[in-house]
Amino acid sequence: MNRVGIEAIAIAVPQRYLDIEDLAIARGIAPAKYTVGLGASEMAVADPGEDTVALAATAAARLLRMPNVDASKIGMLVVGTETGVDHSKPVASFVQGLLDLPRTMRTFDTQHACYGGTAALMAACDWIASGSADGRTALVICSDIARYGLKTAGEPTQGGAAVAMLVSSRPEVLELDRGMSGVFSTDVHDFWRPLGRREAVVDGHYSIECYLDAVAGAYRSWRERATEREVVREGPTYRSEQLARIVYHVPFCKMARKAHAHIRKCELEDVGGAALDAVARAREDALDAASFETQVAPSLMLASRIGNTYTGSLYLGLTSLLHLQGAELAGKRIGLFSYGSGCSSEFFSGVVGARAAAMIERAGVEEILGRRTRIDVTEYERIMELPRESAVGGATDAAPGTFRFAGVRDDRRTYVGSAG
Ligand code: HMG
Repeated sequence: MNRVGIEAIAIAVPQRYLDIEDLAIARGIAPAKYTVGLGASEMAVADPGEDTVALAATAAARLLRMPNVDASKIGMLVVGTETGVDHSKPVASFVQGLLDLPRTMRTFDTQHACYGGTAALMAACDWIASGSADGRTALVICSDIARYGLKTAGEPTQGGAAVAMLVSSRPEVLELDRGMSGVFSTDVHDFWRPLGRREAVVDGHYSIECYLDAVAGAYRSWRERATEREVVREGPTYRSEQLARIVYHVPFCKMARKAHAHIRKCELEDVGGAALDAVARAREDALDAASFETQVAPSLMLASRIGNTYTGSLYLGLTSLLHLQGAELAGKRIGLFSYGSGCSSEFFSGVVGARAAAMIERAGVEEILGRRTRIDVTEYERIMELPRESAVGGATDAAPGTFRFAGVRDDRRTYVGSAG
């Protein structure tokens, strides 16, 4: 069977961030609600110059500057996003133009809330694995800015970022297990953004229930396929424990903890052990907590410092994990869960590449985080209230190797910057 998966990853994040405790204090809320209750520490704040296109192009430019990434071999450019900038023209098309990419490629966007990035990744993998790519590679970008608005319950779960991935038959970062994905989708109104609105509408607590239903459905479906293929085995350990790590979509870090506990609850139910007395429950809770620390916590570093990034969230989780543990995970199988409100979800797995740590080092994660500027709540509120089309601080210039939105002229969006 043809190998396929992620060969390289690059990221771009907004230049400013807010300390989440500063936000809690300004809102008169106990900081522990945000730091412990939601698991956040910082939140990225994108200004209007850092729109979805600018972040996507900046991440893609970083990817294309990496050794052995050959732009002339890219035959497909797909952007997963739910915060596109035009009803018709895809973000992919802007990125192609800004980076002066070859004309001999398919360009399109994929949308299904946060699942849109995984839809793009799967389309690219299928194109390569089917042979249609004929040796070409795909550039998949997840780019979004998560906005709920000032003083809303969702406010501490905002953020923004782009993740660019080179998808190929040389999966140095992660080789995907083909034919094993478990999918779960249903028509729900848990989170959406009506046409013309800048901020998402969300039924927050219901959205958590929808996410948990989805992770149960998708995980059980993956488990059935993985068991048939003897990738995991029924036995003394839960089959989810046979994955070295599990990376979840992270709207806020605590959600990954809830999702992981939910999968373990499903495992227990499926072996007929749901009714526990108090002692057994306490033992199970302790096992859940220990399992979370080992299997999940290392993937949450970027989410805790950036916030929700919608389509990019899962892939920032993968980047965090391999940034921290890429060497020790080489050759090991991990699970990934993608959730998009509405809803569509997928649990899939893959094997970490032997050179994953070296490949992720090229993404310069610490350097990118270290270059950001901390702002106070007054500045954050000023940025949030700027009109969407204003090009704050970036109308004529952008740092080398990055892009910024520079305003609308003749109904056309314009950008400044360079691929570096
Ligand atoms: P809320 O109602 O303000 O918060 O909003 P809460 O009262 O539920 O409290 C949150 C947690 O803090 C709770 O923990 C509290 O106990 C705890 P839990 O019981 O759930 O484990 N807490 C404290 N902990 C320590 N010290 C304290 C304290 N006080 C309370 N003093 C909510 C929370 C997440 C609902 C809100 O932020 C929201 O609506 N966020 C946006 C929606 C969201 O993120 N949904 C997640 C699932 S849907 C999804 O993932 C898709 C999405 O990414 C979009 C897409 O697909 O495009 C969102």
